Amino acid sequence: MSTNLDNLWMPFTANKQFKAAPRLLVSAKGMYYTSHDNRQILDGTAGLWCVNAGHGREQIVNAITEMANILDYAPMFQMGHPKVFEAATKLAEITPEGMNKVFFTNSGSEAVDSALKMVLTYHRANGQAQRTKFIGRERGYHGVGFGGISVGGIGGNRKHFSANLMVGVDHLPHTLSIEHAAFSRGEPEWGAHLADNLENILALHDPSTIAAVIVEPLAGSTGVLIPPKGYLKRLRELCDKHGLLLIFDEVITGFGRLGTPFAAQYFDVIPDVMTLAKGLNNAAVPMGAVVCRDEIYETVVNAAPESAIEFFHGYTYTGHPLAAAAACATLDVYRDEKLFERAASLSQHFENEIHKLRSAPHVKDIRNLGLVGGVELSSRDGAVGARAYETFLKCYEAGVLVRYTGDILAFSPPLIVSEDEITRIFATVGEALKAVA
Ligand SMILES: Cc1ncc(COP(=O)(O)O)c(C=O)c1O
Repeated sequence: MSTNLDNLWMPFTANKQFKAAPRLLVSAKGMYYTSHDNRQILDGTAGLWCVNAGHGREQIVNAITEMANILDYAPMFQMGHPKVFEAATKLAEITPEGMNKVFFTNSGSEAVDSALKMVLTYHRANGQAQRTKFIGRERGYHGVGFGGISVGGIGGNRKHFSANLMVGVDHLPHTLSIEHAAFSRGEPEWGAHLADNLENILALHDPSTIAAVIVEPLAGSTGVLIPPKGYLKRLRELCDKHGLLLIFDEVITGFGRLGTPFAAQYFDVIPDVMTLAKGLNNAAVPMGAVVCRDEIYETVVNAAPESAIEFFHGYTYTGHPLAAAAACATLDVYRDEKLFERAASLSQHFENEIHKLRSAPHVKDIRNLGLVGGVELSSRDGAVGARAYETFLKCYEAGVLVRYTGDILAFSPPLIVSEDEITRIFATVGEALKAVA
């Protein structure tokens, strides 16, 4: 390969291993990437759970190109531009009722940290400044900012930074139980009671000091943990009982992954705040967002004196014109092509196909909901992750991109995927599993 790989420090990558045998993607269209060795790679992961409308969508590319020619950049502090208001309006058309206020960021990590700051600002404006603590959940992934890793629950992401995490954070137990709910199809029957652990945690802290609970409705990055039936409703009830805000991190579950605009609608549990990114603009330009209940915005804005800045927070690239143009075009594509409905109608086939792997070698559990699935493998002694990594490599060699975390394989194809492509993804994984030791 002629490309120089030396200078780039790659994120979440085993740099030495990767550079010894690199895998570069050079172009993409529809469901397929083209690799540097000129092979077609079926995208089983929508990039990183983000290219929900498929790659290289003309409508989105044109919107970005057009905007680059009209307005390359506009400041958003005490200024604005029309496209970002349009993007917020379009987004509010699909958010749950009463959640119409949108704050833009440039990533999911920034959305999470912005949401935590928004919640603290709200409680202060609401006369409850003592509500400063957060409750996250074990195995939660909320990006890589210090706020996000503090409320997050992935040991590997926290341990090097453990002396510097946010204070006043506690964690709920995670909801995965292979013992009680292995090979569940959709939401596991077992585990709603795990939400009751919130009462125990609150008893240790005094509920009046807690600002919010933050969870992914369905945890993706940590290996596809599907919420048990009734769990999220119970969490909502307990938050209401104690006056806590509920934040859903919908960075992965947003924009049709479960067949509805957001997981909130799928589970019929409406949070106070949602964090979004990825599918928001099909990942074509970096963008994230925090969406909150109208009352949160109104309380914060009305508490400040006239002509005072109400929320001391924002980014140079908040609502960047190219990102906003991409968001408007993407939301149109989702609507015009009914892609969320398409995801819903494909989910049964997806479930049938992924569960065919039950008899494949090394398979310990299979979990799925909507167009997201996880296959957990038994780990080799002393080498957690090695088996999934080798499976990932074999799939890549066979022309299918999958993801893995630890020894869990994860699947989240673009919502334009066909039934045949779904079949091919899981058949390829089946063959790969036969070939790894
Ligand atoms: C639930 C969740 N929150 C936050 C993030 C962080 O998003 P980003 O990588 O855009 O910062 C991710 C990324 O995968 C995510 O899955």
